[in-house]
Amino acid sequence: MSANKIWVRVCDLSDLPADRAVNVHINNQRLVIARCGEGAHIVQGYCTHMLYALKDAEVSNCLITCSLHGSQFDLRDGSVQSWATPLTEDIKQRKALRVYETEVRDGALYLAWNAESAEKVRVRLS
Ligand code: FES
Repeated sequence: MSANKIWVRVCDLSDLPADRAVNVHINNQRLVIARCGEGAHIVQGYCTHMLYALKDAEVSNCLITCSLHGSQFDLRDGSVQSWATPLTEDIKQRKALRVYETEVRDGALYLAWNAESAEKVRVRLS
């Protein structure tokens, strides 16, 4: 059977803190979820500067700030907003966070994931 895009229910928005990122494990991948306005976004679990974990990173106004050196990313498109060293155009283009496709339905966050079936996708928040 081949993989298809499947919408996986991740959590209720009300389960998420307003001001920090939480881990979500999708099968064996660690990503983070963070609130942004009335919704939330899912991005890769590690900072692109030096791969520090983004779990518990501060979140404010749709920006996530890495706890180690303060690099900052826009949760909506992953773009670099500030960087641990002087920000150059090259860094802006190469160091964006990967953003995963999500949707909010009835107060719950769903993630688009490639899998054979929904039963093959394990979701765990931590
Ligand atoms: S590892 Fe994130 S800013 Fe350095």
